[in-house]
Amino acid sequence: MNKLSASAISTIDEIVKKHQGKRGPVKLMLHEVQHELGYIPFEAMEKIAEGSNVSVAEVYGVVTFYTQFTTQPKGKHVINVCLGTACYVKGAQEILDKICEKLNCKVNETSADGEFSIDATRCLGACGLAPVVVVDGTVHGSLTVDMIDDILVSAKA
Ligand code: FES
Repeated sequence: MNKLSASAISTIDEIVKKHQGKRGPVKLMLHEVQHELGYIPFEAMEKIAEGSNVSVAEVYGVVTFYTQFTTQPKGKHVINVCLGTACYVKGAQEILDKICEKLNCKVNETSADGEFSIDATRCLGACGLAPVVVVDGTVHGSLTVDMIDDILVSAKA
């Protein structure tokens, strides 16, 4: 595990202090740490547990239950491939496999150059555009395998 920077630790400390004593502080703290650092390091879970009087296991349970939290640093660009039913029947798995192959990266991981993270997600609510991939918040619909190169290039531009 990489050691956290002093600024990341002080960011975590400030967040914990800010939400201490509020109702349901764990999720609030986790949201803010995720927003500030881009992921939830183990040290943050320890500090949040201590500041909220719950066990680290409970905090870890929340982190793993909600897909918006991640324990690994994300790449500069985040690719979300929808594997909901409508997208799946229209070839989402093939698209996901191709993206993984092109970036030499597995699902839920970040490419070696730190440029891309690949996530598979459930229905994004845009089934009419299936298959759907979201890159850095931009929705790409009716996707085909041939369009992947252009999408990856434009994400980096
Ligand atoms: S199943 Fe993919 S957007 Fe609904």
